[in-house]
Amino acid sequence: MFPAHRLRRLRYTQGMRRLIRETRVTVDDLVYPIFVEEGLEHRRQVGSMTGIERIPLSEVNHDVGTIHDMGIPAVMLFGIPSVKDEVGSSAYDDDGIMQKSIAEAKNAASDMVIMADVCMCQYTSTGHCGIYRNGTVDNDATLPHLADIAVSYAKSGVDAVSPSAMMDGQVAVIRAGLDKEGFENVVIMPHSTKHSSIFYTPFRDAASCTPQSGNRDSYQVPYTNGREAMAEVQADVQEGADIIMIKPALAYLDLVAEVRRRFDIPVAAYNVSGEYALVQAAHQKGWLDQTQVALEILASIKRAGADIIITYFAKDIAEHLAGSR
Ligand code: PBG
Repeated sequence: MFPAHRLRRLRYTQGMRRLIRETRVTVDDLVYPIFVEEGLEHRRQVGSMTGIERIPLSEVNHDVGTIHDMGIPAVMLFGIPSVKDEVGSSAYDDDGIMQKSIAEAKNAASDMVIMADVCMCQYTSTGHCGIYRNGTVDNDATLPHLADIAVSYAKSGVDAVSPSAMMDGQVAVIRAGLDKEGFENVVIMPHSTKHSSIFYTPFRDAASCTPQSGNRDSYQVPYTNGREAMAEVQADVQEGADIIMIKPALAYLDLVAEVRRRFDIPVAAYNVSGEYALVQAAHQKGWLDQTQVALEILASIKRAGADIIITYFAKDIAEHLAGSR
């Protein structure tokens, strides 16, 4: 009780504050997303995400090298193919944009963790995350394609695949597919509980994957449902996920904390495009400082229990951390 207890005692000096810091965001926690567009000639700024670009295949080596030099341990690759069809065949073409990007990335920095999004929405003419039939996405017809995508990424040298289609059984089918081809050491980090979220809007600009009709409500988790989110994570753990992911991050910190309490495998959180865009927009207006806000947001995600943060702020934060201590 006061006056014996004074919580401010520990806050007076920078040194003491450093000693008692409970949460540290370090460069080791970060994954940086990269968008590679097939047939692109020059880097192109993503309209709704200042500072983020679509890059041509020829720039992958350079960008991955730079990110590696900054000390960031991992990148998450996304591909934008020049051809889309109903069955998303450019996604599992061994000569596809992702397969080439993975090989380039691995070449650029062999000790970099190369992660790849496994989904169909950039590759289907419908813009849906799977095979669209009779007005909905057919779960079981989609599964073999997801396994084929993962295997073809593995052949190109990917370290971790990150299925984001939200199909039931996707982790089991991908694990079986990888193992059958001898890729038993490729890590699966599914978007375990991926919520149907308006926060993905800028990403769809970045990756050209807006559904041509309807939305993703029949496969992504409603943002109102925390118990359903736990059931999704549970299913992925049972199917063999190595790392689980919660997405988006900031409006879902209660779920990050809950997953941390319930499961003993690494937890990733995806600080998604809309979370980035909000901060960027305010920064551009001069209303707040992007780096300071990002540091606070990333600290909150770690404090909630995440081990890994996939974030468009990764380079900015890595630079900041290198300049401070
Ligand atoms: C593809 C995918 C999406 C994101 C990651 N993978 C978009 C979506 O489901 O509509 C969103 C990432 C972000 O917003 O930063 N299925």
